[in-house]
Amino acid sequence: MKLSVKSLIGLSGLSRSEIEFMLEQSESFKEISYRPIKKVPTLRGKTIINLFIEPSTRTRTSFEIAGKRLSADVINFSASSSSLTKGETLTDTAKNLEAMKPDLLIVRSQAAGVPELLSRTVATPVLNAGDGFHEHPTQGLLDLFTVREHKKKIAGLKLAIVGDIYHSRVARSDIYGFSKLGAEVTVVGPPTMIPSGIEQLGCKVSYHLDPVIPEADVIMMLRIQLERGAGNFLPSTREYSRFYGLNLKRLEQAKKDVLIMHPGPVNRGVELSPEVADSSYSVILDQVENGVAVRMALLYLFCGGADEVSA
Ligand code: CP
Repeated sequence: MKLSVKSLIGLSGLSRSEIEFMLEQSESFKEISYRPIKKVPTLRGKTIINLFIEPSTRTRTSFEIAGKRLSADVINFSASSSSLTKGETLTDTAKNLEAMKPDLLIVRSQAAGVPELLSRTVATPVLNAGDGFHEHPTQGLLDLFTVREHKKKIAGLKLAIVGDIYHSRVARSDIYGFSKLGAEVTVVGPPTMIPSGIEQLGCKVSYHLDPVIPEADVIMMLRIQLERGAGNFLPSTREYSRFYGLNLKRLEQAKKDVLIMHPGPVNRGVELSPEVADSSYSVILDQVENGVAVRMALLYLFCGGADEVSA
């Protein structure tokens, strides 16, 4: 299949068949991480720049591991030691990096729209590694991959996304991805943390967690994003946890085969109790593991692999 996009900015711009194609490609890359020598020559000679101007543990590391397992040369751009600190603009930075002939730019930014802006500024393909409140498409894909791996399907499942929906790029990518593949998505949180009109993205809304738990096949818990000012939307994190935190008592109301997910980082004791985070229902570390396979597939597809794949 030839993808309709040169850059991956969000799942909103992809068709159902493109998302399914990316998930199928990811499956073929997963076993490489179980080999004694976790390296294949697929992207030998390709250069990938990780342009992260916002902190990240999972996304940055897994993109780097994914690139190295495919034999690409991976360059980690450090914003704090770059000429951004001297006033160089991001677009000038991207143009200068492009002059060094990379094959792919991977962009994480605290501001929504930066990956799209850079994709319009440079000819090099751009992968969005999370931009502000907007989207985190590779997280959405690894969430879909993880649910499909456990449940063997997406269509017909009920997904509850719980917490700080307002500030969450993961929520937006998951709403687009899961609803395009036929799941029923409900976002749950205090009214201050659910943007008005979010139903137009293809989800239902609930301001109460307890009635949603028994119905859900998958519960995606989100962190309160204090670094984006979420503290101003709540009386206190203790109060929030009382109404929207998932603990063992609430989990008793869930289906016996419910999946508990979280994109990380987890604030233990706020959105998830440690007992739930570490329970047998939790697939949080599966999400992290699958992030490597999904990102290997995306590097392959956006570094030219897609041109070699026929429908
Ligand atoms: N899920 C996620 O984006 O985590 P990081 O911020 O650590 O990359």
